[in-house]
Amino acid sequence: MKLWAISDLHLAGAANRAALRALPPCPADWLIVAGDVCESLSLFAEAMQFLAGRFARVLWTPGNHELWLTEGAAGHASSTAKYAALVAAARRAGVATPEDPYPRWPDGPVVALLFTGFDYSFRPPEVPREDVVRWAAETRCVGTDEHLIRPAPFADMDAWCAERCAAAHARLAAELPPGVGTVLVNHYPLRRDLVRIPRIPRYSPWCGTVRTEDWHLRFRAAVVVSGHLHVRRTDWRDGTRFEEVSLGYARQWDSARGLAGYLRDVTP
Ligand SMILES: [Fe+2]
Ligand SMILES: [Fe+2]
Repeated sequence: MKLWAISDLHLAGAANRAALRALPPCPADWLIVAGDVCESLSLFAEAMQFLAGRFARVLWTPGNHELWLTEGAAGHASSTAKYAALVAAARRAGVATPEDPYPRWPDGPVVALLFTGFDYSFRPPEVPREDVVRWAAETRCVGTDEHLIRPAPFADMDAWCAERCAAAHARLAAELPPGVGTVLVNHYPLRRDLVRIPRIPRYSPWCGTVRTEDWHLRFRAAVVVSGHLHVRRTDWRDGTRFEEVSLGYARQWDSARGLAGYLRDVTP
């Protein structure tokens, strides 16, 4: 019995959809899907149904692409409304979401599905918050999230992120049994020093929040799973393993390996 993790399936791409369809069944194993499944709600629902039929248990947390209000958003007025619809679709497929009780690995850690978002705080200290988009635009690096995510009723992503972080922090502090560790799962890296994107350094403000910097220690994480960067790697901080588990766009992975070749083993 294994716990697998992957993110950034980006199923809008035909090659990525074909790779998903070719994934062999793993009926004894669990699968973590750490965001950026796709933009379309109907394709998302289809993918969740498919994966739920392939694994004993599937656990999902959203990425920024799920929150985009594009054509496939089925008329949602805000990304918060679309998030509610995504949660409902995942639940219909039997897939665990950040809004559900945290699943517990048999005799092991709690697998905490986080959706903390981003708040532009991954930026150099000399760049004030109000200048961050202009600063990124100097290198034509403004996140598409600026145009396609509408966080209403929150005033901005900063406010949505603050609320998400406070709620997750309170929940973990209250629900984590004494002495039990965690596998923390989030689309975004929990720490700024894990954001290494040399080709697009000024994309960092759209990559997470400093609020989660010490959560791996605070909540006794053995492993932290994230995606978003499309830079697959393993890092260690304070004895905790950090796994970036992106698949990415078609040009970023090798079709000869198949999707199964990109599932990361994060079994506790
Ligand atoms: Fe992605
Ligand atoms: Fe992403």
